[in-house]
Amino acid sequence: MDLFAGIFESIPDAVLVVDETGGIRHANRQAHVMFGYSEGRLPGEPIERLIPRRLAAGHSSHRDRYLTGARVRPMGQGLDLQAMRSDGAEFAVDVMLSPMETGAERIVLCVVRDVTARKRDEQRLRDSLSEKETLLKEIHHRVKNNLAVISSLLYLQSRRTADPEAARALEESQRRIRSMALVHETLYRSGSLAAVEFADYARTLCDEVQRSHMVTGQNITVVQDAVPIQLPVDIAVPCALILNEVLVNAFKHAFPDRSRGEIRLQIRLLDERHIRICVTDNGVGATSPAARGPSLGLTLIESLSRQIDAVYEYHSDETGTRVCLTIPAPNPTEATAG
Ligand SMILES: Nc1ncnc2c1ncn2[C@@H]1O[C@H](COP(=O)(O)OP(=O)(O)OP(=O)(O)O)[C@@H](O)[C@H]1O
Ligand SMILES: [Mg+2]
Repeated sequence: MDLFAGIFESIPDAVLVVDETGGIRHANRQAHVMFGYSEGRLPGEPIERLIPRRLAAGHSSHRDRYLTGARVRPMGQGLDLQAMRSDGAEFAVDVMLSPMETGAERIVLCVVRDVTARKRDEQRLRDSLSEKETLLKEIHHRVKNNLAVISSLLYLQSRRTADPEAARALEESQRRIRSMALVHETLYRSGSLAAVEFADYARTLCDEVQRSHMVTGQNITVVQDAVPIQLPVDIAVPCALILNEVLVNAFKHAFPDRSRGEIRLQIRLLDERHIRICVTDNGVGATSPAARGPSLGLTLIESLSRQIDAVYEYHSDETGTRVCLTIPAPNPTEATAG
């Protein structure tokens, strides 16, 4: 056997040389092994013999089309190809095609690789991924439910507390926990399980805070101007708590004796690495919240801002109050404008 014949026979993939009419001219040893034919049986057979019967008719027209503009077609082109063994069993293959001119004739070199094991592994990976996604979704669902239970417990406790100050504190805590539960709810309702669409979240939170702070006869409009921004859950939860404090403050303190007012919520991508969330109201303003002594709301805002390296700005005068939070986005995949 000369060197080239030796190479042809030893190639670990099935190699077939096919003529213009689809007849197999040459087939190496591995082609016979792969397709289950005894040595020397393949030459002379039509190539369609190696293709599942249900696909064989369509294959001859594919072959004609290929020959009109024959080019090298590499393996792994995303084609889902099936081949057939002599016993009729089907298996997944990758096929490389390469046209060759030999004198007056045009032939095609086909290299066929059995990809059954790879396909099985891919399927296993897909199954495992989908199982993990389901699990993650379930976890968010449970976290949300557990937080809802805590929130209800605080509510019940507040109803049984005679001291109005204590009852109020319990109600505030209930609302804070509710705002966290809402993050997990947003997460498992959305397609992504790792990032929260924060503009969506803020909209729901705004509605909830507005509903729970509605005063009869008072008309407060909320204007939302928010671009879609994905925040990873470890940033979204502190942001959610801060936003809750700021929104509650606006509803609670900005319009004490007023029949109307406006609260504007803005969420913007400041530049590629910073997100800015601002809540502005046209209420009475507060000269210095700090001067009123350390309150839980402000303490929470400050410590949560530190936790996510955010810059918290507060400006208040007789025309209203503006609170802004500038959050660094750790990397572009963690905060992306959609
Ligand atoms: N948007 C606002 N308009 C007017 N006054 C405000 C506004 N936001 C905050 N304040 C003032 O700042 C003070 C401190 O706010 P902070 O949220 O820290 O405490 P709180 O709302 O009074 O109590 P809590 O601890 O329950 O939040 C408020 O009591 C209020 O006087
Ligand atoms: Mg407050």
